[in-house]
Amino acid sequence: MNAPSPTRKRPPVKAIEIQGLNRSYEVKGKPDHIALKDVNLTIPQGEVHSLLGPNGAGKTTLCRILSTVLLPTSGSVRVMGHDVAKEHHRVKKCLGVVFGGDRGLYNQLTARQNLNFWASMYELGRAQRRRRVTELLDRVGLAQRADEAVQGFSRGMKQRLHLARGLVSSPAVLILDEPTVGMDPVAARDFRDLVRELRADGHTVLMTTHDMPEAAELSDRVSFIDNGELALTESPDVIGNIVSSQERIDVRGMTDTLRRRAAHIPGVSSVTETEPGLTRIEAEFGEAVRDVLMLVIEAGITDITRSRPSLEEVYLHLIGRRGMTVAQ
Ligand SMILES: Nc1ncnc2c1ncn2[C@@H]1O[C@H](COP(=O)(O)OP(=O)(O)O)[C@@H](O)[C@H]1O
Ligand SMILES: [Mg+2]
Repeated sequence: MNAPSPTRKRPPVKAIEIQGLNRSYEVKGKPDHIALKDVNLTIPQGEVHSLLGPNGAGKTTLCRILSTVLLPTSGSVRVMGHDVAKEHHRVKKCLGVVFGGDRGLYNQLTARQNLNFWASMYELGRAQRRRRVTELLDRVGLAQRADEAVQGFSRGMKQRLHLARGLVSSPAVLILDEPTVGMDPVAARDFRDLVRELRADGHTVLMTTHDMPEAAELSDRVSFIDNGELALTESPDVIGNIVSSQERIDVRGMTDTLRRRAAHIPGVSSVTETEPGLTRIEAEFGEAVRDVLMLVIEAGITDITRSRPSLEEVYLHLIGRRGMTVAQ
């Protein structure tokens, strides 16, 4: 008797799967310029992933390869299971791409006409298209200016229109290359809300950014890229843990004697008065931190704050300040 074969659950397809990716650019009269070196990165569906790196690190190159504008020199890159080199039509169907700047927008047309044009590339009925365009204009905060020509738009408004354009097909995966460049703080805040909404709707987002707090706030995981190489991929919290084996303990009301005693505890690397009455102690995780806390608590002090290094401190530690403007 034939027993029914057990139905095996297939693991969900990865949103982005990059294996051994290399990309070099030919430069006349010089050896090829290597923009990406042996990049490996897997992003599951539904993740918001930030790519952080200084200018020239290779971020845009990676985004362009994912969006099938540029071919890999070697290695394999898949979007929703489809190979960017062999199945670019399928890849394009799952993707929304937002590159900043003026390219790709028709300046003489209004915001609505621009979006209508892009929406006409997809199989949507007339009424459905009209609804979708109106909904998107509203979603990116351009409803009031929808019928004005794009040439009068500020950089931030153009960037919002780019975003709406990337969302026209309601893609599974969104690639955003420096999406908040040129946005004022209010638009940048709206953008962050939008990314949270997209995540809640199950979209996968890969974005590049220079803005550390933005990456930490929005991302499930962050990758650092420098000189074409991925330095580290982790969640913002875990990165804080990995890089610093140190913990910061800020204590209010320590006497000089207590500070001297703290400095003698093995594993304490520094004791500094950061402002009058406030002492920052840097100590190794584990015993040193416990001994410091014991010393302070036994002295009757309760104003103690423990913290881990910020994503920005980690970034600077890993990559340094080269060519980088660190947004606050
Ligand atoms: N079309 C090109 N021809 C030659 N070199 C290029 C080209 N595009 C980018 N590069 C080089 O590749 C490296 C990565 O560039 P890019 O991906 O734009 O970095 P990022 O977006 O991180 O600033 C840089 O050194 C850049 O000068
Ligand atoms: Mg770039």
